[in-house]
Amino acid sequence: MAPYIGTPTSRIDGIAKVTGAAKYAAEFNVPGGVLYGSIVMSTIAKGRITRLDTSAAMGVEGVTTVLTHENRPHMADRDEGYKDDVAPEGSPFRPLYDDRIRFNRQPIALVVAETSEIARFAASLVRVEYESEAHVTDVFRQRDAAIPVKVPTSPEGAMFAPPKPRGDAGKALAAAAVRHEGEYYVPIEHHNPMELYAATVIVEKDGKFTVYDKTQGVQNVHKYLCGVFGMKPEDVRVMSPFMGGGFGSGLRPQFEVVLAMLAARALQRSVRVVLTRPQMYALGYRPAMIQRIGLGATTGGTLEAITHDAVTVTSQYEDFYRQETGWSGLLYRSANATYAHRLAHLDLPTSCDMRAPSAAPGVYALESAMDELAVALKLDPVELRLRCYSERDQHENRPFSSKALRECYREGADAFGWSKRNPEPRSMRDGSDLVGWGMATGVWEALQMPITVRIILTANGHAEVACATSDIGTGTYTIMAQVAADTLGLPLDSISIRIGDSSLPQSPVEGGSWIAASVANGIVTTAEAIRGELLRLAKQIPNSPLANASSDELTLVDGQLVSKHDGARSVPIADAMRHGGVERIEQENTTNPAEDTARAHNAHSAVFAEVKVDEQLGVIRVTRVVSAVAAGRILNTKTATSQILGGVVWGIGMALHEETLIDHRFGRIINANIAEYHVPVNADVHDIKVIFVDEPDDSNPLGIKGLGEIGIVGVAAAVANAVYHATGTRVRDLPITLDKLDRL
Ligand code: MOS
Repeated sequence: MAPYIGTPTSRIDGIAKVTGAAKYAAEFNVPGGVLYGSIVMSTIAKGRITRLDTSAAMGVEGVTTVLTHENRPHMADRDEGYKDDVAPEGSPFRPLYDDRIRFNRQPIALVVAETSEIARFAASLVRVEYESEAHVTDVFRQRDAAIPVKVPTSPEGAMFAPPKPRGDAGKALAAAAVRHEGEYYVPIEHHNPMELYAATVIVEKDGKFTVYDKTQGVQNVHKYLCGVFGMKPEDVRVMSPFMGGGFGSGLRPQFEVVLAMLAARALQRSVRVVLTRPQMYALGYRPAMIQRIGLGATTGGTLEAITHDAVTVTSQYEDFYRQETGWSGLLYRSANATYAHRLAHLDLPTSCDMRAPSAAPGVYALESAMDELAVALKLDPVELRLRCYSERDQHENRPFSSKALRECYREGADAFGWSKRNPEPRSMRDGSDLVGWGMATGVWEALQMPITVRIILTANGHAEVACATSDIGTGTYTIMAQVAADTLGLPLDSISIRIGDSSLPQSPVEGGSWIAASVANGIVTTAEAIRGELLRLAKQIPNSPLANASSDELTLVDGQLVSKHDGARSVPIADAMRHGGVERIEQENTTNPAEDTARAHNAHSAVFAEVKVDEQLGVIRVTRVVSAVAAGRILNTKTATSQILGGVVWGIGMALHEETLIDHRFGRIINANIAEYHVPVNADVHDIKVIFVDEPDDSNPLGIKGLGEIGIVGVAAAVANAVYHATGTRVRDLPITLDKLDRL
C-alpha cells in the first residue's frame, strides 16, 4: 500500500526553508512595524536588586519604556500560574517578578524601543545595584550536600524514579571474580540551536494576541501564557510554524515570550524580543552529572552486579531530573543491581531536557565502564555485550515489544570492519597517528502520546491534515504528509500539513522522540474515519460495487476506494463525494494509545567509532563512525538518516568539545558564545555511516519507534573507548581534550 512510507522522500518544506519563505518567530511583521525589546540581565548569581536606575535608558530617543519588577503589569502570584505541561516539581521561575536574583544572567529589565539597535544600546545604560549573597555553582562543591531525588507520586513523576534494586548488588560486587569501578563526569552542556530564542507578540485589532514564539509546544506556551497573565484561552493564539533547532530547550516556555507579552500588554503595541547568543545561556542546559558505576562479573564475562549512582544538577527552585541510572539495568542482564540518584541544588537556572536526556550521559558512563570491564576480562567489547545481552526489561521483568540490538551489533561491526581490530591499545597506527577503534550501545524509549488529528478531504482530491504539533527540524511535516498520502490514497503533493498553531487539534510537546509514532497513529486513525465516511457515500451510488463492503476490507489507493480482496470493486473518491453532494469530508479523532505496560518499548543502537590521535600533539579526530539503529519501521530513510547523523555529530561534540564553563567566583558562564563553547564543525566531521536494521514492531499500527534521540546515545562512549584503544589513556571526564591525554 505504501508508495511513500519507507522511501527517502525529500522534505516537503525544504524549498520554503532554503528560499527563506519559511518564517521563524522573529520574522513575522505587521503593518506599522513592531517594537523591539532588549533584555537586561543580572551580573550576580544570588541576592537582591537594591536599586534599578533606568533614567539614562529612558532618555534615549526612540525608547518607549523600560519594564522592571517595579513597574510591570500584573502577573500571577501563585506557582500554579507558571506551571507548564512539562514543569518539574518546584516553584517555576518568574521573569521580572520581584527583586530576587536566583542566577547570573537572570532577566531583570526589558528595554523597549523603536529599533532593536536602540533597545540594545539603551539596555546597556540601565544601572543596577545589588545586595549579593553567597552562591554555589560548582557541582563538586555541592556534591556532599546533594539530596536523594524526591520522587513525586504522579505517574509522570514516578517515570523518572530510580528503578527498584534487585538482589544484593553490594555483596555481589564485593564477591565478583572481576570488578570494575569508576567515576565518570559529564559537564553542563548547552543546546545552542541555530535559531535564537525569539517571540513576536502581535496585538490584533480586537485586542487579542497572536504570538509567534520559538517553542516545541505551542499549546504548552498557550496554556502557560493564559496562566501567567490570567488571559482567556480564546484571547491568545500561539504559533510556531518552523523552528531552527530545539533539542529540548523549547519544551518548556521560555522567558522571551513572557517579556514580549508583558510589553505588548503594557503598551498595547506589537513587540518582538530576540535573545542574543550570550543570553541563550540563561536558558536551561543539560545537567552536569557525576556518576559512579560498579560492575562485577564472572571470569566468563557475565554480570553479577551493577551499581549506578548519579549526582545531577538543578536550580534552587525546581527539581529537574530524569531517570539517569536505570539504563544500566535495562541494557544488561544482572541479577543484582542498585541505583541511586541525588540532586545538587545550585544557583543556576533549572536544568532541562537535552537530546536523549539522562541516556546520553548515563549510557556514556555505563558504556565506558563496560569497555573497562572488557579490558579487565580480556574480552572483545562486542562479545562482552552479547554475553550480558538482556532479553527482558529487568526493572519490570517484562519482554521488549521488539529488540533487534543483536542485529545492530552484527551489521554495525560488519560495516565497520570490527573483526580486524587488534585489541591491544596503541597497537594500530596510520603514519604518525595512533588509531583507536571503540564501540558502545545506545538505548532510548519508544513512546506514544495522546494526540488529535483533523483531516479535511475536499472533492478536488486534496487533503489538509492538521494537528498542533511542531516540526522542530526533525521532518515532521514530511512524514505526516507521507503517512497521510499513503493512508488516503493520494499523491504527496495533494496533501497539505498544518501544524505549529495552538488553535489546531491537541498535541503534546514535540519531544521524547514520540511525535512520529503519535501523529502517524493519529493520521491512520483519522484516515480510517474518512474512509468510513467515503464508504457510506459510495454505498449510496446505485448498483455500487461496494454495496456490501465493510470499511475494514477497503483501502484508499490512487484516489479510489478499493476492495482489498477484489481490485475490480472500486469507487473513485471524487464519484462518491459528487454523488453524495458533499464538497468536503472532515474528521477529527483522538488517539489515546492503550498503555502496553506488559512490554518494554525501546529503540537501540550499536555505535562504532574510529579515532586518529596525533602522537606528538594529542589532537583527536573522529575519522569514522558507524551507527546501526533498531527503531522499528523507518518512515523516511532520508530524514531518518539525517536525524541519526545529527545525533552522531552531537555525540562527537559531547565526547571532544562541549563544556559550559562557569567562573565559580561569580557564578557566571564564561564561554557564553559559540566561539568559546565548542561544537563540532565541518572539519571535525568525517565519515559517518547510518544503518537501519530491520525491526518489525506491533506497538502501533505502523510499527514506529521514533528517531529524534537515539542517534546521540552511545556515541560519546564509543569515541572515548576508541581514544583509550588508540592511546592507552582512559579519560573519564568529558570532553576529552588533548591536555587530558597524559601518555602519548
Ligand atoms: Mo527532546 S530533549 O524531548 O526535545
